[in-house]
Amino acid sequence: MNKILIIGSNGQIGTELLQTLRSKHGNENIIASDIREPKEPDHYFEQLDVMDKEKLKSIIKKYQIKEVYLLAALLSATAEKNPEFAWELNMESLFNVLNLAKDKVIDKIFWPSSIAVFGPTTPRENTPQYTIMEPSTVYGISKQAGERWCEYYANRYDVDVRSIRYPGLISYSAPPGGGTTDYAVEIFYSALKDEKYTCFLSEKTPLPMMYMEDAVRATIELMETNKSNIKIRSSYNLGGISFTPEEIYACIRSTRPNFEIEYVPDFRQNIADTWPGSIDDTAAQEHWGWKAKYDLEEMTKDMLNNVQIDKNLA
Ligand code: SER
Repeated sequence: MNKILIIGSNGQIGTELLQTLRSKHGNENIIASDIREPKEPDHYFEQLDVMDKEKLKSIIKKYQIKEVYLLAALLSATAEKNPEFAWELNMESLFNVLNLAKDKVIDKIFWPSSIAVFGPTTPRENTPQYTIMEPSTVYGISKQAGERWCEYYANRYDVDVRSIRYPGLISYSAPPGGGTTDYAVEIFYSALKDEKYTCFLSEKTPLPMMYMEDAVRATIELMETNKSNIKIRSSYNLGGISFTPEEIYACIRSTRPNFEIEYVPDFRQNIADTWPGSIDDTAAQEHWGWKAKYDLEEMTKDMLNNVQIDKNLA
């Protein structure tokens, strides 16, 4: 068993990926790391600022890590507040890990890209794998540049780096980290607390989304498939569910009829307006057999059953 390091293990994706990989391969084989300490003591956790190249190397050496999932990043909304730092963090972390693979210290990398690589000139419906990409956020620019570097390292140095363009991810175990799609998580907390939800996007803003269980399964399927199946080394489009705030609100309201919403768009509306409404993921389906399971109704039902409102969303 190749030992795996998850960087960003306390985040929205990291929390669930860690649990799933640990139950599959055993705690001792999946090392967690994050800039913040975990809530529960964890024998296999290392505190790590991913910009600290030396510490990253020493952890890799200590546990003889062969695979890295790099999940630390500043997301779209947070990145707009600090563009320079976002660029530095999102790019440097990727180079630190790519270079370890180039030097053959590690064998395999997972690095997430995002629908944020697309921009206002991209076709919005069923956005193709290959299309115009002129991202207008610092987050999107960093993800697009990252994709180019992943492909470059794969072609030039035979680095086995694999990537997915995640849509907005919806989950209940850990809060999202400052994205434009976060409303689709927040809305459930308001619904369950019987509070009116103030949505920061307008009611008719369609965005591609995915339930976390599907996203974690996609990530592991991509990482476990034979190397020969990976024909795209930049990043794979991944489709899940597409909906507008009005549609998810209606879906929640069908079981919580008193739930109320108001729409007060803020700067995140401008970001959402440049992103696709839905994604064509034919390449992922054909190359490594991807198929999403959750639709809006099932996802909503599962969220309403599992969100714990006493958990702090911040
Ligand atoms: N969920 C992310 C964001 O909104 C998209 O990658 O920033």
